[in-house]
Amino acid sequence: MGWTQSNNRKMIWTIGGGKGGSGKSFITANLGICLSRLGIRVILIDADLGGANLHTFLGISPPAITLADFIKRRVSHLHEVLIPTTVPNLQLLTGAQDLLNAMDAKSVQKRKLVRSIQHLESDMILVDLGAGNSVSVLDFFLMSDGGILIVTPEPTSVENTYRFLKSAFYRRLRQMVSSPSVKAVIEGAMDRKNEMGIQNPYDLIKAVRRIDQTEADRIIEEAEAFRPNLILNQVRSKKDIEIGFSIRSACLKYFGIHLHYLGYVVYDQDVSNSIRRRRPLVLENARSRAAQCIMEITSKLANRP
Ligand SMILES: Nc1ncnc2c1ncn2[C@@H]1O[C@H](COP(=O)(O)OP(=O)(O)OP(=O)(O)O)[C@@H](O)[C@H]1O
Ligand SMILES: [Mg+2]
Repeated sequence: MGWTQSNNRKMIWTIGGGKGGSGKSFITANLGICLSRLGIRVILIDADLGGANLHTFLGISPPAITLADFIKRRVSHLHEVLIPTTVPNLQLLTGAQDLLNAMDAKSVQKRKLVRSIQHLESDMILVDLGAGNSVSVLDFFLMSDGGILIVTPEPTSVENTYRFLKSAFYRRLRQMVSSPSVKAVIEGAMDRKNEMGIQNPYDLIKAVRRIDQTEADRIIEEAEAFRPNLILNQVRSKKDIEIGFSIRSACLKYFGIHLHYLGYVVYDQDVSNSIRRRRPLVLENARSRAAQCIMEITSKLANRP
């Protein structure tokens, strides 16, 4: 992450990882609202192929105009498919199918789309990637300035997070190296049952060092630059909060990856109540415990360089 960063443009955050139902859309929508209420111009992008529903979290109907209108050239500029929301400074862009299809497309088209997104008039963009770790999701995650994984304290969700991180990191390495033999080692490592016995990035670096010292050093540098973020959601106890720190330590110990623990959001019945009423939690019940947690994470994001 940070690979495509330049100084004079907005931050693009992607929100993904974890399992279905971990709270990615709820957090994306409510973070977006909190950030925009600080005067930051925010665009939310719904890229969840499985079930685009960010609009519902914002209390608006399914948008009639989507990214497809831009891709099929019914409109000439991407900003024409932005949907206003009831919150000043906050707009929505939907079109998961077309977005991820484009990410699957040739890299020229992919870069063109990402460039159009980068040129949108705003200060920050939050992309709800949905669950899963398909190639298009991983590429979007890797092209952003910051990736945020939403994890719940259940072992299955934690397991998915490690899998997502490993896939994203290996994919990044595969895109980066030029030597065919090193590429083959990385591709081999992507298969968990690989014959080389590579279980984590440390094993991978050892295997690469045997063939190419320079590439091994580049991989170490890359691991240093790869700094994903984590939000633990649906936390019910102090012990749950600690899980975020355990994931962070395990990532460093076993993967050599520095994961930043952005914070946690408590499990709160008010979340479900607000969704049922189609009223964003931070607007409907700003004093609720979950809303307070989101506001805390908002100030961390707003202050990130
Ligand atoms: N902090 C929380 N407290 C209580 N319930 C929550 C919390 N976060 C999420 N939920 C519940 O989990 C449900 C799923 O949340 P959400 O739709 O945001 O997940 P998701 O990760 O976007 O799922 P998908 O992968 O299917 O898109 C919500 O409808 C809500 O009821
Ligand atoms: Mg969702």
